Amino acid sequence: MAAKARTKRAAPTRPAPPRRRTTAPPSPVPAEAPAGLHAALLEWFDRCGRDLPWRRAPDPYRTWVSEVMLQQTQVERVVDYFHRFLARFPDVARLAAASEAEVLRQWEGLGYYRRARQLHAAAKRIVADHGGRTPATFEALLALPGIGRYTAGAIASIAGGERRPIVEANSRRVLARLVAHRSPLGGAAGDGPLWEVAEALLPPARAGDWNQALMDLGATLCTPRAPECHRCPVAGQCRARLERSVATIPAAAPRRAIEARRERALVVRRAGRVLLVRRGPGEWWEGLWDFPRLPADALLAPLECGPRRRAGTVSYTVTHHRVSVAVAVCDAAQPGPRRRGVRWVAWDDLAGVAMTSPGRRIATLAAAPVP
Ligand code: ADE
Repeated sequence: MAAKARTKRAAPTRPAPPRRRTTAPPSPVPAEAPAGLHAALLEWFDRCGRDLPWRRAPDPYRTWVSEVMLQQTQVERVVDYFHRFLARFPDVARLAAASEAEVLRQWEGLGYYRRARQLHAAAKRIVADHGGRTPATFEALLALPGIGRYTAGAIASIAGGERRPIVEANSRRVLARLVAHRSPLGGAAGDGPLWEVAEALLPPARAGDWNQALMDLGATLCTPRAPECHRCPVAGQCRARLERSVATIPAAAPRRAIEARRERALVVRRAGRVLLVRRGPGEWWEGLWDFPRLPADALLAPLECGPRRRAGTVSYTVTHHRVSVAVAVCDAAQPGPRRRGVRWVAWDDLAGVAMTSPGRRIATLAAAPVP
C-alpha cells in the first residue's frame, strides 16, 4: 500500500471555515429499554396476543415448523398448512423418514420450496445427531441446514426459554419506530442496527413472549399504513410517536424494477398421460414438477409431436419478474427415452404430484375443453 505523502503546512493566517460534520448520526441503539416498556407490552400480549395453533403447547419441533413456514408467508396462509403438515408429520422422526417428494407435496402452494427441502434435511440430521430430539438451544439450532439467526432466535426464545432477540418483518417495523430508526429497513445492511436494537430492548425474562408480542403488535396495531397509535400499549415509550415521525418510519427502501419475461410451455400428451420435468438445482421451484419449456432442449428433441394447439396463457410474478407463459398442447407418437427428471404421469394422478404453481395452472388450462 502506498504511503500517503505528508506535507508540512504553514500555520493558517485566517480563521478556518466551519468544518462539515463528519461524525455519524446518533446511533438508534438505546443503552436500555425505556421505563415501563417491558411491562406494558407483555401485559398487552397476555391480554391481546393472537391465538395461533403453534402457540398452543409450543415445543421445539412445532415452533420450528411454524417459523419456517412463516418466513415470507402470512400467518393466515400458514395456519392450514401447519395443521396438515403436523397431521402428516407429527414429529421429527416421521418427517425425517418421509420422501422429499412427500414433503414437497405437503408444502405445495406455500412457495419458497428450498425451505421445505432444508427442513427435511435438518430433520434427518436431528435424527442422526440429536437422537430425534429437536434442539432448542440457539447454537445447536444454528448448526442445522436452513436455520439462520432469525429462526434459531425464535425457536430458542419461544420453545427453549433462552434470552435471544429476533428481527422479523413485523417486529422490525415496531423496533424501528420505538427508537426512531430512520434508515430504510431490510437486507443485511438495513437490519444490522435493528438486531442491536432488538438485543438492547430484550426484557430480562420472557424473551419468547416479548418476541411474539413485537410481532403481534406489528401485525395488528403498528401496521405499515394507518398504525393505531391511540390503541398502542407502548405509545408512551415510542420515540417515533414522540417525534411525530411514525408515518415516515420505516423509510421506504428503493424498489427493484419489474422485468417482463415471456416463456412457452408445452403440454405433451400420450395415451392419457402427460410429460413432466423436474425443476433443477438453482431454478425456482427446485425439485417440483412442471411442464417443459420451449425452445425444446435436449429433453424434447427426440420426441415426435403432432401439431401444436394453443391453449392460452398463464401469468405469474416471481421476485422482480412478471412471467407470461404461452401454453401449447401436442400429442407424442412414442414415449421417448427414459431419463432422470422426466416422467409421464396420468392426468388423474397429477393431484398427487408435487407441482409448481404455474404447472398446476397450466394443467388446468390444458385439460379444459377446446372452446
Ligand atoms: N411470524 C413469524 N413468526 C411468528 C410467530 N411466532 N408469531 C406470529 N407471527 C410470526
